Amino acid sequence: MEKQAVFGDNLEILRDHVGDETVIYLDNNATTALLPEVHGAIQEALLIGPSNPSSAHQAGDAARHVLSIAREAVAELIGASTEHIFFTSSGTEANNWVLHALTRKRPSKVVITPIEHESIRQKAGFLKAEGVTVHEIPVDDNGLVLLDAADKLVTPDTSLVSIQWVNNETGTIQPISDIAAICRSRGVLFHTDAAQAVGKLQIAVTDIPIDYMTFSGHKFHAPKGIGVTYRRPGTPLSPMLGGGTQESGLRPGTENLLGIAGIGKAAALRRCRMPNICTRLAHLRDRFENAILARCQGVVVNSGNAGRVCNTSNLRFPGVDGQAFMARLNNRGIYCSQSSACTSQIPEPSHVLLAMGLTAEQAFESIRFSFSEQNVPEEVDEAVQVITGTYSELKGLMVARSPA
Ligand SMILES: Cc1ncc(COP(=O)(O)O)c(C=O)c1O
Repeated sequence: MEKQAVFGDNLEILRDHVGDETVIYLDNNATTALLPEVHGAIQEALLIGPSNPSSAHQAGDAARHVLSIAREAVAELIGASTEHIFFTSSGTEANNWVLHALTRKRPSKVVITPIEHESIRQKAGFLKAEGVTVHEIPVDDNGLVLLDAADKLVTPDTSLVSIQWVNNETGTIQPISDIAAICRSRGVLFHTDAAQAVGKLQIAVTDIPIDYMTFSGHKFHAPKGIGVTYRRPGTPLSPMLGGGTQESGLRPGTENLLGIAGIGKAAALRRCRMPNICTRLAHLRDRFENAILARCQGVVVNSGNAGRVCNTSNLRFPGVDGQAFMARLNNRGIYCSQSSACTSQIPEPSHVLLAMGLTAEQAFESIRFSFSEQNVPEEVDEAVQVITGTYSELKGLMVARSPA
């Protein structure tokens, strides 16, 4: 059968290029590819046909079954019970929901950090415009929250503290237990955005005094457009949207059954493979970083002195513009990114790196490489070759252009 260009010729060409084996995808903190098993689970859910989990007939039963299997797998991945898991349309919605729900009263006070994802930063900005007090706990030069500052800023009148578990740009792991303990000691509710932590860290959410945790399926090989809010039993949470009784009436809207089937399968797979994947990813990342550092003089690992998740490497290449560097790497089949994917259309220095004390110029020199279980050592070696070659080429150009 002749191939149909459903989304037009341009996308067809791009898609062929991405599927090309010469491309090395090192942008897995932006999004990951569906695993074949996840694809299979979605196809299976599609076979049910028209089925709304709220319907009383057998097709509805089948949809409810998919939902319940998936909820169980997601709950198990983070060590929670199924009744505390609520599906949303994304990590962004899940974050907005928690901040929205916990700041309905006036006065309200929210404490965040300057390195949160845009879905927290921007929502906090909206809340501020509505009269909510927003405080930011500063971070050190590795991007770690300053616990002394947290100790002072988190006061009993704080409505919510919202701090990410792992940073999407640098991979820095925050001392979540310590922060949660500070909150608990003052009777303050604590939320963590764990979009970059789930599937990369072994999480038992009930072992730590975390009241709300949010995450997103497409960071661990589920489709885009499916997020999760976990709520500790007994903590307040009101709906952000008006509508039906889905998700115990807390998150109305007919469920994204295919996305939920996908996140369920991805969660089940990740739970089984977890320690192995993390060890393998750490080897890949270290192999990559060590080879780059050995061959490119002056390269700096951003957050290099902090505990980081196994898959993330944020490198600063002094003397070259990251945008130009990335464009060349893109043309040579190495996909990576600068700043977060959501804001990368805007040429602004990363707010994360600025908050860590880097200058705008240093932030622009920095590039994020992020690995997934689908990467192999041969790709890492190939990427290192291309990156080191491109770096010396660009440095050569800079020298040639600089005035004598
Ligand atoms: C730390 C963090 N929080 C939230 C999100 C938002 O998730 P989603 O893309 O599902 O809206 C992302 C995605 O980049 C993220 O990295």
